[in-house]
Amino acid sequence: MFPVKENVMMKNGLEDVVAAETVLSDVDGEAGRLIIRGASLDDLAGSATFEDTALRLWDGFFEEPMSAATLKTALGRARAEVFAHIGAVDEAILSLPPVDALRALLARLPDGDDLRTAVRLAAATAVFLPALLRLQQNRLPIAPDATLSQAADTLRMLTGTTPSPAQIAALDAYLVTICDHGLNASTFTSRVVASTGAGLASSVLAALSALKGPLHGGAPGPVLDMLDEIGTESSAETWLRETLGRGERLMGFGHRIYKVRDPRADALKAALQRLAEEGTVTLSRVKLAEVVERVAVAILRERKPDRRLDVNVEFYTALLLDALGFPRESFTGVFALGRTVGWIAHAREQAMNGRLIRPRSVYVGPQPDQQRSLQRAV
Ligand code: ACO
Repeated sequence: MFPVKENVMMKNGLEDVVAAETVLSDVDGEAGRLIIRGASLDDLAGSATFEDTALRLWDGFFEEPMSAATLKTALGRARAEVFAHIGAVDEAILSLPPVDALRALLARLPDGDDLRTAVRLAAATAVFLPALLRLQQNRLPIAPDATLSQAADTLRMLTGTTPSPAQIAALDAYLVTICDHGLNASTFTSRVVASTGAGLASSVLAALSALKGPLHGGAPGPVLDMLDEIGTESSAETWLRETLGRGERLMGFGHRIYKVRDPRADALKAALQRLAEEGTVTLSRVKLAEVVERVAVAILRERKPDRRLDVNVEFYTALLLDALGFPRESFTGVFALGRTVGWIAHAREQAMNGRLIRPRSVYVGPQPDQQRSLQRAV
């Protein structure tokens, strides 16, 4: 933080600036701990479902009463309703990357601040993404089954087959793990939009746009590319050193807040190992990832001794989503499936308790008199 004028401080990237009070999640970057509304991620991932987590985050932010059962029913019904929007998909939408196509379809939904709008948005991400992916592969979209859980139905709409309990549990673990994470760039975006009084659909669309960048939710696809390029355990060190030597960043490593290993990486790795036991993912792939992680962390420590750069959530996300059948170009969209509930909770919290978010900038451009003398000189 440095002073730009009397009583005006600037912090590039807003690092360490507190911009909101929240009951939703707490990221302890020193201890490597994530609390999601009173529960530790370690206790939630692997046991809670997507519906449990939506209930946890949304409780108290809407007038309508909710229970896990009513939310499951409402989500199922909303999935069935929003499927009609798939009819609007045209060649222009299909030519877009999946996350942009998802954004285009979400933009068709009506805005609002009530539970119905929230449920519709959460249901729509789960329906639109699998349908878009299938259409992009010249396959027919599969209509939702309102009786299933959101995770089970998402996988069924993606693959056209009945997912195994381990696959459903793995997707639930993923969606729960990434549902909320303090004031990250997309969540902050959601709160900024909500602070103006715009509705939840506007907040979610803006947040999705912030999510897609490679420094935020756009990293897991490139993580898989990296593992494919490395190929074998023995090539890892040379590949990683050459990449860093070219000044490139290693995708899936480093985090603004965590100074230690991202706890979400452990939650996802545990889910991945359960899939490996079932045979859905090959053990050699997991082993290669472990070697790449170990070697990369050691090299990053050697190159940046003052800054702890460890594995982040995106690293094992890549392996998990790949094992569940999501194509790598869709990973950012799958992230949005889980994070939408967090964006909505933050938007409601901001709208109910916060003020208009309106920071200042410092003008460093020319003054009109300087500009005039410059023009005279020319
Ligand atoms: N590989 C190599 N070097 C890195 C990496 C990395 N993955 N991450 C940070 N560094 C280096 C930077 O080059 C920089 O070095 P310098 O000071 O010599 O220029 C230093 O560490 C600090 O980097 P910043 O960009 O200032 O750190 P910041 O806190 O802003 O970055 C970020 C966090 C964006 C996640 C960064 O670590 C990164 O780019 N990681 C790779 C992309 C990635 O994995 N994104 C997903 C993040 S998780 C999520 O958002 C869901």
